[in-house]
This record gives sequence, C-alpha cells and structure tokens, in this order.
Amino acid sequence: MYGVKINGIGRAVPELELSNQDIAEFIDTSDEWIESRTGIKSRHISTGETTTDLAVMAAMHALKDGDIDAGSIDLVIVATVTPDSTMPSTACLVAKKAGIKNATCFDISAACSGFIYASEIAVSFIKQGNYKNALVIGAEVLSRAVDWDDRSTCVLFADGAGAAVYTRSSENKIVNILTASDGGGSDHITLPTLTRANRFNQTEMSSKYMEMNGKEVYKFATTAVPQNIQDVLNGTGYTPEDIDLFILHQANSRIMDSVAKKLEVDKERFFKNLQDYGNTSAASIPMALVDAKPYLKRGDKLILSGFGAGLTWGSMFIIWD
Ligand code: UT7
Repeated sequence: MYGVKINGIGRAVPELELSNQDIAEFIDTSDEWIESRTGIKSRHISTGETTTDLAVMAAMHALKDGDIDAGSIDLVIVATVTPDSTMPSTACLVAKKAGIKNATCFDISAACSGFIYASEIAVSFIKQGNYKNALVIGAEVLSRAVDWDDRSTCVLFADGAGAAVYTRSSENKIVNILTASDGGGSDHITLPTLTRANRFNQTEMSSKYMEMNGKEVYKFATTAVPQNIQDVLNGTGYTPEDIDLFILHQANSRIMDSVAKKLEVDKERFFKNLQDYGNTSAASIPMALVDAKPYLKRGDKLILSGFGAGLTWGSMFIIWD
C-alpha cells in the first residue's frame, strides 16, 4: 500500500455576492432570521458561471497551489448534484478545459458528503497503486436547483467549487476515511433529475426544485456526525480532544456548535466560512479548507466531515503536510 497526501487546494465562486438583505428585498425573510438560524450572512450566486466553469477555476488554483502539471493528473472525480450535463460528465469537461489528458474521469453523486465520498475513492485508488495524482473537486450551482420563491431553501444554498489534489507519497497523511448512508431518510432532501416523461408515460413530476425537511436533517446531522467522527478516530490512537481543527460541511453554524458540544470540544476549533458563502453542498468542505489554510501548520490534525441528502455522511482524519 502507498501513502497519500494532499498536494494543492483551490476554490472558486461566482462574482455576484448576494447578502441576506438583498434576498429580503424580493422574498419574505430577514437578515436577522437567516443569520440567527444559520450563521449565513452572504453568498455567491451564478449569473452565468456554470458548474464546470467553477470546477475548472478551482482545479487550476489547486494545481498552481501544489505546483503540479496538469499532464501528471491521472484521475479526476467531480462530486456534484448540479452537473451541467449528465453526459459528458463534469470531470471529462474539467479535464478538457484544464489540459488533463488520458485521465480516468467520472462524477459522483453524494450531495453534501460528495467531497468526502470522492476523496475516499481517490485515496483508495492511489493507495492501491492504480493512480499517482488525483484531482477531486466538489462543485455546485445550487442556485439553479432551488425555487427562488421558497424561503426555506433559497436563503441557504449557493454556488461555488473547491478542489484538492491527492498525491502518492512515501508518508501517509490521510489516516482514515469512513463514509455511510441511510436510504431510509431519502425523502428528507430531494432534487429531481431534469429527465422528462417519455412518449408512453406522461406522469408529471411533482416538483422541479430542491426540497428539504430542515428539522429532520438537523436532527440527523447532529446525531450522525459526532458518532461518525468518533468512529473515524477509533483505532487511530487519537480522540476528538487531539484534533486541531474540525472542518464540517458548512450547512448551519448551530449544527457545528452542537457537534462540538457532543464531542466535548471547544467550538472555536470548528472552522466556519458559511457566513460568506452559504451552503455550497459538495463544494463547502474544500472551500473551507482553502480559507482555513493560513491558520494551519505542518502536523496539525484535521477532521473533515460531510453530511446531507441520501442520507449520506462521512469523515476524514488527515494530518496537514
Ligand atoms: O446541506 C445539507 C444538509 N442540510 C442541513 O444540514 C440543514 C439542516 N437544517 C437546518 O439547518 C435548519 O432546520 C434550517 C436552517 C433549514 C431551518 O431552521 P429551523 O430552526 O429548523 O426553522 P424551521 O424550518 O422550523 O422554521 C421555523 C419558522 C417557520 O415559521 P413558523 O411555522 O414557526 O411560523 C418557518 O416558516 O421560520 C419560518 N421560516 C422563515 N422565516 C423567515 C423558514 N424559512 C424562513 C426564512 N425567513 N428564510
């Protein structure tokens, strides 16, 4: 088995910044409600930037950050629930635009856990020796998936992309990854595909937009995530108290505070940037990692943790290099 480390990270967001106040101009909500219930103050929304555009920008930043030549990338995985097309995959489009040739490219769908799921695949493949340099991207244009007349979702979700390059290494810095799911909770967050009824079946879709039972998802996240973090640390010789920084999916500041409390860890060790970006689903963890980087030093112990539709969840325990 080979070792693996993160060797370059990057992120990208659309230009348009939309504050809570801006949203309150066209829908019955308020800055006070959004910030006190979620911690979100602002977000970036596409005025034309596609999921592929954002993914490519994040990828280019990650390659530059790691001083990696596009030609050495042999695996590209994009985690997204808002691909520009079902085929070709976003990963193939990223490869084309970033100058990556002959790589294995595919997308995965695991919603807000997508970056952790994609990382587990990439890290396992590298450890087995199949690949040397994997580009893993979480990218979303969720502003296309929400109903802008539904205040229960449109104030939460936003657009962006984050990327990480995983590289074969003599030292292993990706200590453990543990993902899971519960299809029994599949109704709690849904987003239909764009596929229409066929000639022989004119059944109309009941909804075109993302729908979420926020309360159920909140309960699930604040129960499954602390357990999953305990489990991913199990057998490593470390406990939550030893972790320098927790980077959770940026869905709700209160979820992070609750997880901190359950793990009996100071909530200041939970990194937050959702105040500036909202909930960007698969993109949120690598985007937060980029913003956390200035505070990280070599040898820091990090937990990255995602949770969302499926229901899916997963955590990674890594040592920062
Ligand atoms: O990324 C995938 C994972 N997703 C999550 O982790 C999300 C988990 N869930 C949550 O973060 C929270 O449940 C929400 C932030 C989504 C909602 O917070 P909540 O405290 O659970 O609010 P609620 O849905 O129970 O709504 C409370 C009230 C309702 O009014 P009534 O029935 O009490 O009169 C809503 O109609 O707030 C109302 N409301 C709003 N008011 C102003 C809902 N959305 C809004 C809004 N502005 N945008």
